Amino acid sequence: MAGMPSTTTLPRILSGMQPTSDSLHIGNHIGALANWVKLQDEAFEPYYFVANLHALTVPTDPAVLRRRTRVTAAQFIAAGVDPQHSALFLQSDVMEHPELGWVMMCLTGHGEASRMTQFKDKVAKGQNANVGLFAYPMLMAADILLYDAAYVPVGEDQRQHLEVTRDLADRFNQRFGEGGLLVPEPYILKESARIMDLTDPTSKMSGTNSPDKGLILLSDTDTRIRKKVMSAVTDTESEVRYDPETKPGVSNLLVIHSALSGERIEELERRFAGHGYGELKAEVADVVVGVVAPFRARMEELLGDPAELDRILSAGAHRAREVAATTMARVRDRIGLPALRG
Ligand code: AMP
Ligand code: TRP
Repeated sequence: MAGMPSTTTLPRILSGMQPTSDSLHIGNHIGALANWVKLQDEAFEPYYFVANLHALTVPTDPAVLRRRTRVTAAQFIAAGVDPQHSALFLQSDVMEHPELGWVMMCLTGHGEASRMTQFKDKVAKGQNANVGLFAYPMLMAADILLYDAAYVPVGEDQRQHLEVTRDLADRFNQRFGEGGLLVPEPYILKESARIMDLTDPTSKMSGTNSPDKGLILLSDTDTRIRKKVMSAVTDTESEVRYDPETKPGVSNLLVIHSALSGERIEELERRFAGHGYGELKAEVADVVVGVVAPFRARMEELLGDPAELDRILSAGAHRAREVAATTMARVRDRIGLPALRG
């Protein structure tokens, strides 16, 4: 029988993001990428990828998908994902993803898939429901299980997908023998790192739902950032205080400042006591520009050198395939498919 999951290496962490907009935003950075970068320095072997197969669940112009996929990869690197250390790759470069995805679909009940809230929400919002959208969580389970990922850092919205992944790994092991697939632990990123829309601070900043003025894109110029922050919706009081219930706009600005500057929210409240919202906004704009400007420069450098980005993605694909092929050989053996013929 093919080997068990390796126990000699560091625990693997894996995460991915879909290339569904022309640029990631500051919420993706604070809520996800900053954590990926932090985890990279801990005792893990990290795998980070652009989920461009998942992006096919939403009909997209091919040229647009191609561009967004490269921008997303460049933005991961600009945010600090170090391709020397982390395997950084495109999902479409590792064909074991859809291959194991099919196996996962064959292990999932129709009723079970129908209960996924994200699928139901998207359909309720009028998104055209192709079979790919229905099978989205099974492909995501494959993404994770292929790498024997011990931890999967994602936002709260992905919790149900992780639960399905765990169920599928358990089911696989029960049916085909223990040690087949590693059951991953959820690693849900803090809700406090949830960044809200600048024009409507009661809803999440979202690349697909927020208006441009509500989003701080990681590709925005300094001028645009300042303009957006200065016109962020606040409230009719004047006190700078963290209170997400009654002061969601001001609280959001404090969260953004604190996440990017490292200064504690209580300290910011103290420092801004007696000062108006205008001063808070001006400082938040400075802090955001301080982070985004070098980020944007690195991103533009990468996008201006397509050969270098291709070289990085090829190296990442190579590393990912090595692990994915080993797992897939084990899976084929367990479920009764012959080894892949040359
Ligand atoms: P999405 O673009 O919604 O697929 O999200 C990609 C990643 O960024 C996920 O891990 C999300 O949890 C995270 N994320 C997206 N929007 C926000 C936000 N407004 N605040 C914090 N994290 C976010
Ligand atoms: N579904 C995730 C999102 O929308 C993206 C994703 C796809 C993912 N496959 C994954 C995240 C595997 C973590 C692990 O954010």
